[in-house]
Amino acid sequence: MILPIIGFGHPTLRKTAQPIEADYPDLQQLIDNMFETMYAAEGVGLAAPQVDLPIQLVVIGYREYDEKKKEYVGDPIERTLINPVIVEAKGEMQYYNEGCLSVPNIHEDVLRPECVVVKYYDRNFELQTEEMTDLLARIAQHEIDHLNGKVFVDRLSPLKRTLLKRKLNDIVSGKAQTGYRMKYVSRKK
Ligand code: NI
Repeated sequence: MILPIIGFGHPTLRKTAQPIEADYPDLQQLIDNMFETMYAAEGVGLAAPQVDLPIQLVVIGYREYDEKKKEYVGDPIERTLINPVIVEAKGEMQYYNEGCLSVPNIHEDVLRPECVVVKYYDRNFELQTEEMTDLLARIAQHEIDHLNGKVFVDRLSPLKRTLLKRKLNDIVSGKAQTGYRMKYVSRKK
């Protein structure tokens, strides 16, 4: 089932998400729904607060891009992160152009470490410690920010944010165009 995604300006995106236990109601169904919602919206990551659930749950799914063939190859690389914690950040700080299903039509370069070690429970509630690099590290950090009430535009310079003000206001007021279903705090007529 595809879930409506909430947009920038919705209070749930600003909450600190709570950890969950293995007996969280209908957890497997919720995870499946989040994957379905993410893929339908052509996203590569989705955090539970984005579907209005302030819990520590993230899904990630993307495919490798083959520069020579100019196409996506292989099976999707998928992760389910439950109660994730970044225990270490390593490597260089890098810029990467980020977007967010809750902040449609805005893409900006964000500076983050290239590698992180993440401790999390997988969807079978087994504890994992994984060193993530490249795109996986990037998505994981973006999604874990959501669990801490942060969105990627918070990481931009004040000048950049000022320049985006109009576009952000459009999202808050439900005027942003998206190819997927969104739920807004207030929708202007
Ligand atoms: Ni996001």
